[in-house]
Amino acid sequence: MIDHKLAGMILEVIKLGNPKLREVCDAVDLNTLQSDEMQRFIDDLISTMRDKNGAGIAASQVGVLKRIFIMECSDNPRYPDRDGFPLTVVINPSIKFIEKENQVDSWEGCLSIPGLRGKLSRFSKVELSGYDRDGNTLSKTLEGFEAVVAQHELDHLDGILFVDRMKDMKHLAYNTEYLKYWHEVEN
Ligand code: NI
Repeated sequence: MIDHKLAGMILEVIKLGNPKLREVCDAVDLNTLQSDEMQRFIDDLISTMRDKNGAGIAASQVGVLKRIFIMECSDNPRYPDRDGFPLTVVINPSIKFIEKENQVDSWEGCLSIPGLRGKLSRFSKVELSGYDRDGNTLSKTLEGFEAVVAQHELDHLDGILFVDRMKDMKHLAYNTEYLKYWHEVEN
């Protein structure tokens, strides 16, 4: 269930070129997770992602170098034709690739690289592990767009951006050009 009443603050999303996006984030001390400060930060991160129509956001994208990311896709105007998935908050995430040979082409955008899309390759099925916002163990098998978003967000926590994983810069496009020249051809 999506809590639309959630009233976090909208935080500033930092952009490509900000050195913080290139740092490896620190693990969260689970003993601090229940603090008001951490719980409020998680609410703020959710509100920020929703405000910007992101399908995911990592703490480092608001300049907080901690291993936390959030993902959700529900009636998202930036991704109208993608399968939706529920809100997931992950603390100290890790990803295991299942069926390593199965890769998918993925046109990705990023709130820290606004206006652009790029094509790269991701694993199509992964197992995401970590902790939820209450400190409970979390483990989920993800497929399709949800798996792609999890890989994109985990990369952020290691200072990696989608452009780093692109094999061919000919597949970097403004959203408008992506929709005009690539979207219909490939979907
Ligand atoms: Ni991103």
